[in-house]
Amino acid sequence: MAANNEQNKLGHKDLAHKSLLQSDELFQYILETSVFPREHKSLKELREMTEKHPRNLMATPADEGQFLSLLLKLINAKKTIEIGVYTGYSLLSTALAIPHDGKILAMDVSREYYELGLPIIQKAGVEHKIDFREGPALPLLDELLKDEKNKGSFDFVFVDADKNNYLNYHHRVIELVKVGGLIGYDNTLWGGSVVAPPDAPLMDYVKHYRGYILELNKYLADDSRIEICQLPVGDGITLCRRLV
Ligand SMILES: C[S@@+](CC[C@H](N)C(=O)[O-])C[C@H]1O[C@@H](n2cnc3c(N)ncnc32)[C@H](O)[C@@H]1O
Repeated sequence: MAANNEQNKLGHKDLAHKSLLQSDELFQYILETSVFPREHKSLKELREMTEKHPRNLMATPADEGQFLSLLLKLINAKKTIEIGVYTGYSLLSTALAIPHDGKILAMDVSREYYELGLPIIQKAGVEHKIDFREGPALPLLDELLKDEKNKGSFDFVFVDADKNNYLNYHHRVIELVKVGGLIGYDNTLWGGSVVAPPDAPLMDYVKHYRGYILELNKYLADDSRIEICQLPVGDGITLCRRLV
């Protein structure tokens, strides 16, 4: 499975730029040595298709997809929720990692984005594992919570949508994930801006969502219902294991 080095040499210049690693060379080394050579051909196809999309900054980078895949296998995840699908890189990583009879409840306000990646997901033979729900995730989660059977029934929840609602998502998904199960919050280091001084020249959207990320991080650190681990993978992932 040799990597196509020329094609994959974009490093921080392509959509894998989200890595917080300071060295482009080191990040490129990780991609070329460990990530791209082992990337499933459908994930590669999805990644390359997404690179051409104008909103490609939103995509989950390949090293993070690889991490999620291994994590899901380690915890034997079978039933998961994905909040924020876009073209489906993390969704496809999940669908390929869980067993044949596994299920992912995937939510996004945009079916259009999901449908960009759907032909590749279908070709990979894993569409049957995905239950896509179009719409804002909060009411969808509230609907799930009305049925007692859903509570404590999910092995893994990946949260990667509107950052201003992360705490609202936490209040809901903590009840949906099983005790011992995991929640992953993406972008919890927010491009490193969590440590930026108040007068730092940040882009408007970075500045806008930064406060929500800071609030979430503080809340998670104080929440005795979970144990947490902040990982500097991608744009920062906080893993939360439900304790009670
Ligand atoms: C960062 S992208 C997700 C990236 C994706 N996980 C991947 O692997 O490429 C965020 C997605 O959240 C969706 N989104 C934004 N607000 C939302 C909401 N309130 N409910 C559900 N999805 C939302 C956007 O349409 C967008 O596709």
